[in-house]
Amino acid sequence: MRHRWIGLAALGVLILGLWLVLHPPRPILNLLKRVDPSPETGAMLVERYGCRRCHRIGDRGGILAPDLNGITRRVEDPAHVVLRLWLRDPQGIKPGTAMPNFHLSDSEIEAILAYLKELDRQGLPPQ
Ligand code: HEC
Repeated sequence: MRHRWIGLAALGVLILGLWLVLHPPRPILNLLKRVDPSPETGAMLVERYGCRRCHRIGDRGGILAPDLNGITRRVEDPAHVVLRLWLRDPQGIKPGTAMPNFHLSDSEIEAILAYLKELDRQGLPPQ
């Protein structure tokens, strides 16, 4: 009888652990992945997460997804609310999209946006 409870408790812990890994809640992400939200950090994160495997950013990158040059100017949303929401949870906005959810923390999103804004300010050649 006792063994059964221990087994059930272990199963519960396992399921909770799996859930935390697959869907880490935002406060935990923000705690574990806190970065300095500067353009330099953004550039480093874009490399680390491999955004250029699909997107062209600056003068290089892939063609599987939209070119991100000019993205912060293209969108008629000065506060970039939609971009932030997209980076948080692409499937939440467009189910079935090929863009993976990178489980970015809020400060990582700010850093990536700062980097994209910086590139757009420098006005690199459109394509
Ligand atoms: C596996 C390919 C892939 C990777 C890797 C990827 N994306 Fe995307 N992304 C997409 C696709 C595809 C879309 C277009 C959305 C759609 O229509 O499904 C998109 C859309 C976007 C958009 C919106 C573009 C627009 O024109 O509205 C942004 C911003 C973006 N991605 C940023 C990023 C960032 C930042 C990273 C790295 C952290 C990244 N993506 C990594 C595939 C990818």
